[in-house]
Amino acid sequence: MVIKTANFVKSSGKWQDCPEPTLPEYAFIGRSNVGKSSLINAMMNHKDLAKTSQTPGKTQLINHFLVNENWYLTDLPGYGYAKVSKSIRKDFEKLITNYILNRRNLVNLFVLVDIRHNPQKIDLEFIQWCGESGVPFSIVFTKSDKIKPGAVVTNVEAYKMELHKTWEDLPELYVTSAEKKEGCEEILDFIEKTNDFLTLNHVTFDE
Ligand code: GTP
Ligand code: MG
Repeated sequence: MVIKTANFVKSSGKWQDCPEPTLPEYAFIGRSNVGKSSLINAMMNHKDLAKTSQTPGKTQLINHFLVNENWYLTDLPGYGYAKVSKSIRKDFEKLITNYILNRRNLVNLFVLVDIRHNPQKIDLEFIQWCGESGVPFSIVFTKSDKIKPGAVVTNVEAYKMELHKTWEDLPELYVTSAEKKEGCEEILDFIEKTNDFLTLNHVTFDE
């Protein structure tokens, strides 16, 4: 997909404040610092459309970007950020889960996972919750430039094995690097195909 325009629309503190749900929407979620904002920038070919930081917890609101005037890309706050109080963490969780469960134009959630680590409990629990809640999602491995290609393959396989303990069918998996702009085209192709499918089938998001 060619990105002609990508514009920041608004930041929202709750799902009710998000833009009118008239266009297909794709959201990025994952642990704090996993690289959500960086990957959005890489995909959009834009240095700082979404704000990034070395300090976890940078994105604290739901951020909407309008792409090619016909679909939304959404940057969500990270989950599992340890350095805030339990009650604030709960507030974030509520913000995220309410958004996911209520946003009726949300077509697919991209769950980002750092490729460098063994499968982490918090990610597996979140993926489990998506599956049980019937949320359509894909898994996106991030920061592949930080380990050797062989280790990328090994870690992806280990992740698949872990998921197979619970699920027979696995979601789509993408390996990416925001640094090297790897995997961006594959994700954009998926979005383009999905948008075409929705148009062809006259899908709208009315209540
Ligand atoms: P929160 O908004 O805090 O939840 O974080 P986030 O998931 O949006 O992460 P962000 O994109 O801000 O990136 C966190 C850090 O990881 C930054 O220092 C990025 O430069 C770095 N980073 C992100 N993606 C990559 C990547 O693909 N490769 C490398 N080497 N570094 C990356
Ligand atoms: Mg962010």
